[in-house]
Amino acid sequence: NVLASPFRHQPNSRAVSDVERAERLIDPGFGRVFTDHMAVVRWSEGQGWHDPSITAREPLTMDPSAAVLHYAQEIFEGLKAYRLPDGKLALFRADANARRFRESARRLAMPELPEELFIESCRALATVDREWMPTVEGGSLYLRPFMIASEAFLGVKPSAEYLYMVIASSVGAYWRGPARAVSIWASREYARAAAGGTGAAKCGGNYAASLVAQAEAIRQGCDQVVFLDAAERRWVEELGGMNIFFVFDDGSIQTPPLTGTILPGITRDSLITLARGMGLTVREELYAIDQWRADAESGRLTETFACGTAAVVTPIGTVAEAQGRFTIGGGVPGPVTTRLRDALVAIQRGTAVGPDGWMQPI
Ligand code: COI
Repeated sequence: NVLASPFRHQPNSRAVSDVERAERLIDPGFGRVFTDHMAVVRWSEGQGWHDPSITAREPLTMDPSAAVLHYAQEIFEGLKAYRLPDGKLALFRADANARRFRESARRLAMPELPEELFIESCRALATVDREWMPTVEGGSLYLRPFMIASEAFLGVKPSAEYLYMVIASSVGAYWRGPARAVSIWASREYARAAAGGTGAAKCGGNYAASLVAQAEAIRQGCDQVVFLDAAERRWVEELGGMNIFFVFDDGSIQTPPLTGTILPGITRDSLITLARGMGLTVREELYAIDQWRADAESGRLTETFACGTAAVVTPIGTVAEAQGRFTIGGGVPGPVTTRLRDALVAIQRGTAVGPDGWMQPI
């Protein structure tokens, strides 16, 4: 309950009407429909974290010299609140997002937000805006915590002031249209992150750097880009905003290891746990693009899927790269992909019980 929270709550007097909200929730898609409130916590040198509040969602005012606008000192998270069968809302693994947010902050030389404050900001916002939970099949409340460097100063150094905020978006499916296997373009020209870079941090810069490669993927007639390692352009790393898994004919699955250049996805981690629980062998090992093609052609590789909070589990049906295209398992969603996806979604929807602590009722 909001009263027990450190977040001072100022209700939004301009909140949209029930009718307007119902209209916006008919077909929300992803990331376009926003709720009425936002959570804000400020940080400044000397004062530390202060003034947590839930206020009306409104445009920000900041100085044009604010550090984030010039040097991209910014990090974010993505997590979802779901409606359980009893009508209560629950957050999925918010503690894992809170921990990763601290790790991202450390990499970007930003102050670390205490994990309780992160979780409480998400809980308080989802509670205030609970009416924005979509009723469409597969709908959820996507929470977007982020932190920006707000000091007005053009020197290149860690900012002396930060703004942490959470906004919420009512979301349906990430992809438009009926569920299908997507096609991906393996970029040999662009890399996402190099050893020692920011690849494991969830910072806006990683996503900005992926856009030109994503545009190239679209030009090649594909839905998404998949990045190869920066040094050799050989090892498969991840998509623009999703981790990747490979399924083999012996029932084992494989995903690239967390060596510092890929995002440590929470959906990735959850699927590894679920797969092991199903008795599947899971390897966190490098996989070369040439091997991927050879295995798809020989039938040793039967499925490939991408995963993330926003896109959940998405089958990959075709891969286009310099050597041409190849198809995986007939280009349709495979049984292991479907089984893992269904197991994860059932836990998130509260129709199955997952590992302890994954679902946090609010
Ligand atoms: C997520 O899956 O939550 C992401 O952050 C990926 C993308 C929407 C940036």
